[in-house]
Amino acid sequence: MHRKKFAPRRPTVALGMFTAASLAVIMAAEPSAAASTLGAQAAQSGRYFGTAVPAGKLGDGTYVGILDREFNMITPENEMKWDTTEPSRGSFNFGPGDSIVSHAQAHGQRMRGHTLVWHSQLPGWVSSIGDANTLRSVMDNHITQEMSHYKGKIYAWDVVNEAFADDGSGRHRSSVFQNLLGDGFIEEAFKTARSVDSSAKLCYNDYSIEDWNSPKTQGVYNMVKDFKSRGVPIDCVGFQSHFGTGGPPSSFQTTLSNFAALGVDVQITELDIAQASSTAYGNTVKACMNVSRCTGITVWGIRDSDSWRTGENPLLFDNNGNKKAAYSAVLTALGG
Ligand code: XIL
Repeated sequence: MHRKKFAPRRPTVALGMFTAASLAVIMAAEPSAAASTLGAQAAQSGRYFGTAVPAGKLGDGTYVGILDREFNMITPENEMKWDTTEPSRGSFNFGPGDSIVSHAQAHGQRMRGHTLVWHSQLPGWVSSIGDANTLRSVMDNHITQEMSHYKGKIYAWDVVNEAFADDGSGRHRSSVFQNLLGDGFIEEAFKTARSVDSSAKLCYNDYSIEDWNSPKTQGVYNMVKDFKSRGVPIDCVGFQSHFGTGGPPSSFQTTLSNFAALGVDVQITELDIAQASSTAYGNTVKACMNVSRCTGITVWGIRDSDSWRTGENPLLFDNNGNKKAAYSAVLTALGG
């Protein structure tokens, strides 16, 4: 009788195996209970959910409370743009960007770097350069200095932003880069970027490239196809997705999957939708969820009062930081 109080070795092992097997069955039956935040829910499918953040709001308690609860990817709204980071030639200012990176690191959030080469928010000293050799060396130095400063801290860089025209031509827009360096300025930027940080994903980012039938979309698609065929480094395409009240074009998922089929990740990088209808937000998120290489979604701000689209109420939280109806639609579309 006395001996039976001691558990024999073999049944203990068997019990351990049984417990592990039971756990596996439970996990198979319930692969993931619904999460209660955007970031956690997106993570269940291996995706991220991000927002644009201006450094100036990191002292706003309500704002930061929502930021750290809901979002696991951050894009600096303006702080990594050329007019901030190199306001005069060779004089770099990474302070505002650094404050956002520090916040992200302290709260387990990853960063999208935005943006290295863009015709807008470009200081006058760059746009007034008049010769190709100077501009090429200035552009390459800008990419090199900024990417080196943030090396190891950025998940993906928008290397070139908004280089295509809206005129139906499917060609590049006029800019100092295009006008002095020609079509090759984009691949020059990507090659330089790869040489500086080979572990950051390198993205081309633009707006109005969500409709598969638009010439601008076709222009960007042909560029990516050409880059992939010639070995020019490119890892991802960002679809800004600044939508009107109707939300995404009906072909949006087709566009995402056609780009993904070229061998790049696709991401929704600056989502906002005039008046934020639940249907429009839900359709946008579903399009991404249905494309395995759509790796994440970033909204361009948290509360309507944080939006650059003043008066359009395009975001997921109201001015007081309360969740709007579209928030629930997004959480549901993410699988929650
Ligand atoms: C916007 C910012 O939200 C504003 O604060 C700023 O005044 C202008 O730029 N496409 C982009 C973003 O790639 O960088 C822009 O952000 C919105 C359009």
